[in-house]
Amino acid sequence: WVLMATARAPTNIALIKYWGKRDEALILPTNDSISVTLDPDHLSATTTVAVSPSFKQDRMWLNGKEISLSGGRYQNCLREIRKRAGDVEDEKKGVRIKKEDWEKLHLHIASYNNFPTAAGLASSAAGFACLVFTLAKLMNVKEENGDLSAIARQGSGSACRSMYGGFVKWTMGNDADGSDSIAVQLASNTHWDDLVIIVAVVSSKQKETSSTTGMRGSVETSPLLQYRAKTVVPSRVLQMEEAIKSCDFASLVGLTCADSNQFHAVCLDTSPPIFYMNDTSRRIISLVERWNRSEVSPQVAYTFDAGPNAVLIAPNRKVAGLLLQRLLFQFPPLPDNELASYILGDKSI
Ligand code: DP6
Repeated sequence: WVLMATARAPTNIALIKYWGKRDEALILPTNDSISVTLDPDHLSATTTVAVSPSFKQDRMWLNGKEISLSGGRYQNCLREIRKRAGDVEDEKKGVRIKKEDWEKLHLHIASYNNFPTAAGLASSAAGFACLVFTLAKLMNVKEENGDLSAIARQGSGSACRSMYGGFVKWTMGNDADGSDSIAVQLASNTHWDDLVIIVAVVSSKQKETSSTTGMRGSVETSPLLQYRAKTVVPSRVLQMEEAIKSCDFASLVGLTCADSNQFHAVCLDTSPPIFYMNDTSRRIISLVERWNRSEVSPQVAYTFDAGPNAVLIAPNRKVAGLLLQRLLFQFPPLPDNELASYILGDKSI
């Protein structure tokens, strides 16, 4: 017999960035962060997990290619889920798995991203959130107090925020074992659903410095990171929560752009400095800053993660359409210009 479960999880975009760990093994952050989870039709991972007594070892395939599960991050997620596994019964197949049996059974895992991995867009958040959610579904693990998000966090920090839709906060927590470093939903995906997110792919190259390596360097060498984590982020998080609650778009724009710029300033303050944005990224920032200062165009926000691709947030479809026209005018899709646009939320614009 074989039992299977499948689930899909979208990626999320941080409005207040996570950058820096206080515990590398458990993935505990130096500050709270806030994100918005994208529509699962775009930039999501789909994972199927199968269990069968005929499987001889845990194995995983990512986009059809087998990958090693020996890394600590995968092992931590598998171990924590197995610890919490429950009894499972499938009457049709005549299968009964007792919770203690899960330790002896092996899993085959297949995961796909619905966007080209070559596009240089973060996939670990959707990937680990989906892996943990699908394992929990197959193994009858009941979510208690955000503990599934704490497991996804051990795969990749930002993955804990993809366990929920809408607006999500990852609270850094205080406990040494990480049990209070969990994601909480601030508002559901139907709250403020006029927002449109445009991901402008500036470069499809793999980033040179991974988030994990980059933030390790920043924790070790950047005085600005310490200042940001202790002094700036706590009040910014409160203001962002308020902006989300009251759908205050002007505040969301101000806080999101400022936080992206401070995160990239921390990267520059790292020794050796890390450059995630390129000339095109900076030209997009200038374009949006000019757009926001002109009296005719309603404001839009920009934010950049650990790479040059721009994420732009418009208050509604009309503004998103105007912005997209402007972007395509400024960055015509010539063969030597890699800028392409994905419109997320509504393909009809
Ligand atoms: C810039 O979650 O990819 O996107 O925990 O080491 O796997 P690890 O890092 P990761 O870092 C994401 C950093 C960021 C900001 C954010 O998503 O908050």
